Amino acid sequence: MSQRTCLSIILAAGEGTRMKSAVPKVLHTIAGLPMVAHVVKAAEAAGSGELALVIGHGADEMRKAALKFAPKAEAFVQEKRLGTAHAVLAARAAISKGYDDILVMFGDTPLIDPEALAAARLKLAEGTAVVVVGFRTENPSGYGRLIEKAGKLVAIREEKDCSDEEKKITFCNGGLMAVAGRHALKLLDEVGSKNAKGEYYLTDIVEIAAAQGFDVVATEASFENALGINNRAELAQAEGIWQARRRREAMLSGVTLIAPETVFFSHDTEIGADTIVEPNVWFGPGVKIATGAKIHAFSHIEGATIASNCDVGPFARLRPGADLKTKAKVGNFCEVKQAIVEEGAKVNHLTYIGDARIGAGANIGAGTITCNYDGYSKFFTDIGEGAFIGSNSSLVAPVSIGKGGYIASGSVITESVPDDALAFGRARQRTLAGKGKELRERFSQAAAARKKG
Ligand code: UD1
Ligand code: CA
Repeated sequence: MSQRTCLSIILAAGEGTRMKSAVPKVLHTIAGLPMVAHVVKAAEAAGSGELALVIGHGADEMRKAALKFAPKAEAFVQEKRLGTAHAVLAARAAISKGYDDILVMFGDTPLIDPEALAAARLKLAEGTAVVVVGFRTENPSGYGRLIEKAGKLVAIREEKDCSDEEKKITFCNGGLMAVAGRHALKLLDEVGSKNAKGEYYLTDIVEIAAAQGFDVVATEASFENALGINNRAELAQAEGIWQARRRREAMLSGVTLIAPETVFFSHDTEIGADTIVEPNVWFGPGVKIATGAKIHAFSHIEGATIASNCDVGPFARLRPGADLKTKAKVGNFCEVKQAIVEEGAKVNHLTYIGDARIGAGANIGAGTITCNYDGYSKFFTDIGEGAFIGSNSSLVAPVSIGKGGYIASGSVITESVPDDALAFGRARQRTLAGKGKELRERFSQAAAARKKG
């Protein structure tokens, strides 16, 4: 089958008003990736080499977005929304190039399974002209019903066109269709608009092909394949299903999730075996975790690379560019951004590290801040191997602390510190015997005088 050429046509000219959004519906995200990009990924995973994206009139935002998630896709504009067959025909120029397999998918059905697509392609390879991926449901209302005779699919009837008898059918059109490329245009061109909605229905090619004696079949896949997103409640439902799948995949690949339902992955999260993730952890895009790491509760991590056996959190925030090397530790209430934390270095308490490098084995005391921003530009802080930064120090960048450098607690460091030097950047302490008591007496007398007067 891999030799067979395949074009995927993704219909994304949807109206999307029910999302109540300025953003086109199919650009709303699941696991941080636009839902239409999930469809693109599934098509690619099913071996579809070419991609046609059917978008609505003036959808510049869609074009721009598509450059990111599907740079090779060709966009076609459906000027008027006249139905799903009409939408597919907007990509006529692509279909005409001649493909063995044509897959039609909806941009608002993000959970489609590449295996369902591959199974449909397999049917085409066996000589079937049209394959419809169906699903069974107790509540079929709103879906097109699959009408079979003697094990063959003979028609798809949209809800509004169904007889009472047909409405009882629980085998439904999931919206995925595979069509033999050599028949596709001929079948599509025969579709008319005599139905309750007056639309050109893609689903009508089933009846047309069956009537001409072509082999037409329905395959069965799970309901998720058909879950179309029309509002934000359905978006959240799809997110939930996606997360549940991903958590399971992570656990089966050797990751411990103590409370899986409280851990949220991104579409591209990479996480190695023997990593333990405690409850309530959020992974934004771009996170790569090697093996044996511990991610403690309530950590928020995005754009970060975490090497093996690192310890993160609880309540850590790793932002883009955080790069933790082996056995590094970033503890509670610490934020790390665009910084390398070298092997075994520790940033354990209440600290901000931004635009910095922390040398191997260095210890960053509680409350340390790299002052990396002057309101206009960002500056770099370099901390040498084995350095010790005393608690509550401010390192005003650009600045560097040499290997083994030692910074006294509470320092404001504005000049670089050489290797093995000790730096104080604070006022010297003065202790005045008995002065505390004297001060208290003075203050209490003054307060009493104010009360009287
Ligand atoms: C469609 C199917 C139905 C199936 C259901 C599964 C048809 C006629 N009906 O119904 O059998 O059970 O999906 O969810 O195909 N679109 C365009 N241009 C158009 C019309 C639609 O791009 O002119 C796109 C929409 O953006 C959407 C998709 O095609 O992504 C499906 O269209 P929609 O009107 O939502 O079809 P359904 O009534 O849900
Ligand atoms: Ca729909």
